[in-house]
Amino acid sequence: MPSHVLAPYPALRPRRLRQADWTRRLVRENTLSPADLIWAMVVHEGDGRVPVSSMPGVDRLSVKEAALAAKEARALGIPCIAVFPHIDGGRKDASGSLAADPNGVIARAVKAMKDAAPEVGVMCDVALDPYTDHGHDGLISGGKVVNDPTIERLVEQGLMQAQAGCDILAPSDMMDGRIGVLRQALEAEGHHDTMIMSYAAKYASAFYGPYREAIGSGKLGTGSVGNPIDKATYQMDPFNGDESLREVALDLTEGADMVMVKPGLPYLDIVRRVVEAFSAPTFAFQVSGEYAMITAAGANGWIDEERAMMESLTAFKRAGCAGVITYFAPRAARKLGA
Ligand code: PBG
Repeated sequence: MPSHVLAPYPALRPRRLRQADWTRRLVRENTLSPADLIWAMVVHEGDGRVPVSSMPGVDRLSVKEAALAAKEARALGIPCIAVFPHIDGGRKDASGSLAADPNGVIARAVKAMKDAAPEVGVMCDVALDPYTDHGHDGLISGGKVVNDPTIERLVEQGLMQAQAGCDILAPSDMMDGRIGVLRQALEAEGHHDTMIMSYAAKYASAFYGPYREAIGSGKLGTGSVGNPIDKATYQMDPFNGDESLREVALDLTEGADMVMVKPGLPYLDIVRRVVEAFSAPTFAFQVSGEYAMITAAGANGWIDEERAMMESLTAFKRAGCAGVITYFAPRAARKLGA
């Protein structure tokens, strides 16, 4: 029996099922609910809220504001918040010393959010870029971002986050082998229940632009030999698709509980392939540039911003995502609850 049986026109008229809202809802294949959303949030070391100019509607939040936001997430039915730090430029250095600071803004934000709304999951980025003055995700030596020494620092950072109460560690650095080393370290320290969502298929993308403003990570620096280092030396080549399956396979074998594809919409083909190949919980990150494109076009009156937001989130579900990391989370959840 073929999976698609089609009667010829006029016996079959696909428009019959589209004639009214109720028929469309009745045959709808996918759903979108607040439970599908992970709220991408930036926290800063100061007080109050500071708007991010390239991401209209997104503010950097103080620790206090982040705690209030966690309560808001709970009220809206958003299951999880992914928190990213903005660090003052003067406090960054070549080795990203503050990445594992147990009194730093991430540790304080995680504790404040878990105190305010323990039912809401908290996810932390494991990577050095918010803390390094050169803006790279790892340590630089001999003009390269060096893999194994970076992993040692990532483990310190991840353990600090787990200690602070973080539920999900999300390594976004793209060093080879870091999931296995991190998992082992978590087990050794008794953090058996701390989950890992690996940025498994993360591409070297132009769509991260506004995020660099959001976390105060400026132009990428040079290595000691003076050549600019490209994130393409560790993030994936946008021309590659098959390679994403190898990256995901590696991370799952090393102990990732969930995997992520990043960016989102331009890489939905990758999402679909990963879902079909592994049947593991697969997430997509609708990144800062995707958010900026929709809000900028909306602000110009060129698209219906709210519809474009909801349609883009729907696309992730249709592609097979378990959920979406998005800056739109509170807005979309409010719309869904309305
Ligand atoms: C880096 C990191 C980036 C993002 C999340 N973690 C940027 C990068 O890899 O350069 C991007 C998020 C976004 O654009 O919304 N560890």
